[in-house]
Amino acid sequence: MIAEDSFMTKQWIKMIRRLYEYRYLTLAIVGVFVLLGVVAWLGRSSMNVSASDNTVNLLKSGWNYMPGVSPQSDGLHVSYIGRGIVKQDGMFRQANPAINTYGTYLSTPGDFAIHGTLANINGGATIRFYDSVPIVQDEFRSETRGLELKITKNNIRVAAWGDATKRAPEKQSPVETHTYALASSSTVSLSIVRSGDKMTVNANGNNLVTLSTRNLVRDRVWLGLSAERPGDSWVLSRLEADGLKDSVANNAQTASPYTKSSSGIQALATAKRPGFLVGVAATFGPAVSDTDYARTLFGGDFGQLTPENALKWQFIHPQPDVYDFSEADALVDLARKNKLSVHGHTLVFGEANPAWVRALPIVTASDKERVKQTMIDHIRQTVGHFKGKIASWDVVNEPLADYDTDAGTSGLRKHLWYEALGESYIATAFKAAHEADPRAKLYINEFGLEDDDERWQVFLALVSRLKSQGVPIDGVGFQSHVYEPGDEIDRATLRGRIQTLAKLGLTSRISEMDVHRENGSTAQAKQYADIFNVCLTEPSCVSWSTWGVSDRYNMSLDDDGSINQGQDFLWDTRMQPTQALRSLRDMLSS
Ligand code: XIL
Repeated sequence: MIAEDSFMTKQWIKMIRRLYEYRYLTLAIVGVFVLLGVVAWLGRSSMNVSASDNTVNLLKSGWNYMPGVSPQSDGLHVSYIGRGIVKQDGMFRQANPAINTYGTYLSTPGDFAIHGTLANINGGATIRFYDSVPIVQDEFRSETRGLELKITKNNIRVAAWGDATKRAPEKQSPVETHTYALASSSTVSLSIVRSGDKMTVNANGNNLVTLSTRNLVRDRVWLGLSAERPGDSWVLSRLEADGLKDSVANNAQTASPYTKSSSGIQALATAKRPGFLVGVAATFGPAVSDTDYARTLFGGDFGQLTPENALKWQFIHPQPDVYDFSEADALVDLARKNKLSVHGHTLVFGEANPAWVRALPIVTASDKERVKQTMIDHIRQTVGHFKGKIASWDVVNEPLADYDTDAGTSGLRKHLWYEALGESYIATAFKAAHEADPRAKLYINEFGLEDDDERWQVFLALVSRLKSQGVPIDGVGFQSHVYEPGDEIDRATLRGRIQTLAKLGLTSRISEMDVHRENGSTAQAKQYADIFNVCLTEPSCVSWSTWGVSDRYNMSLDDDGSINQGQDFLWDTRMQPTQALRSLRDMLSS
């Protein structure tokens, strides 16, 4: 054994000497391997295609999360699903055509040509090339720069859109439009060629128009496909890009999860109280297309995500027989991939319902029964679809009337659900949600419960009735919007109310907190930290959530129809932390 060991040792010494003699060659070989490793690593996720490929088939993958689109062997089948956005009074305002936000898009394309074949056109077909993802809220949608090609009957309309992000919805319109006749419109082949600051549109081999790229796509090309009138459908049988220089066809689904900072407010809160969740309402477009936003959302400050609007009725159930969960699925998928739990908002609400819901008749007993079945079906389908993925739901949102107590309604809001079913709509909704997912925690969510005493008494009486009837309700969401001076929340009052609910066997959550900055950053910061602290130190208050990531997307409609930019959140428009965020960090670190 000893002889064998010393022989091995000699062999090793010999080999090391050899390596030393040939050290430069050895280094060169190791270097080449390291370089190859780095190149492979860099190219690993973003590229579906290498930059040198000449023609890229954009239909290959990444179309499985697009509303109204079904990928099949002969191409993408596009059908009318009638997604629209209503005004606060429930009247139709704008169409909400789908974009492939969670799928294939082009990034930094430089010059390119895109060739498409629109086949089996039945009625009309629209294809759009967006420079950035439009901002979609539940009362309006702001169009961004892009090119829109709309085929109807015997013509094609080419429209160039400028950036309408800050424009009132009613004032959004294309910068220029051109309409041309088409000889045949059941199959149309299109080519869009971008060369420097010019973009040329060709249809069926004919050159239609050359536009300046000023109002069109620059950094990215997001793709939109839609059928815009009832009954319309078509098939995108070919979509290829060529001439791409530094560009790649990206697929937003394949992006890796974001790294989490260990000093985020979620981590700090967990250290103080394990299991406590710090949440935020999020919007899908920026979560995929704005990396500043996504890094902030997923970088460790939050452990829970509430889809701000994506689960509201008009987005997922746009027509009586059409459920389309694809966009909400994408947001839920992205949240779960980044290890955020999801709170569902909201199943039964007086707002954000599509026009068809608002138009349901409620005169006869059978009308009312239909309304009830429509509500139950919506809850079953939605909660069932997300079973195991969405941990808790706002089953009923804002059941109370505005600040005065409505005569004869026990203070309840007179919307369609109440008018058809009376107070029983609430118990029915909770039962349906519980049956669809017995493990989900079920909430009633309301604003103005933090201060106004009369409102609180009305609410308390309501939840007491529900509890005594054995309705499967787990807790209460205090929206905690502090919109203007005078709305400030008193700590002791809030704490008392949370404790009262705990005695009834109900948990609480601060569900939608945002605070105006009209009294300055210090007052704003104090209000945030005070309310967060009340919740964190009350055992029955299980989570605290703010109603938006940053002021960059903090937009609301003014009464005159113009768009307002608010200053209410923890990050500002430049995505820098505000004093409010620092106050939460300090409070949680002390
Ligand atoms: C708001 C959204 O944040 C906006 O994007 C939308 O345009 C209007 O609705 N109470 C609620 C939320 O329960 O659904 C509301 O969300 C804010 C008030």
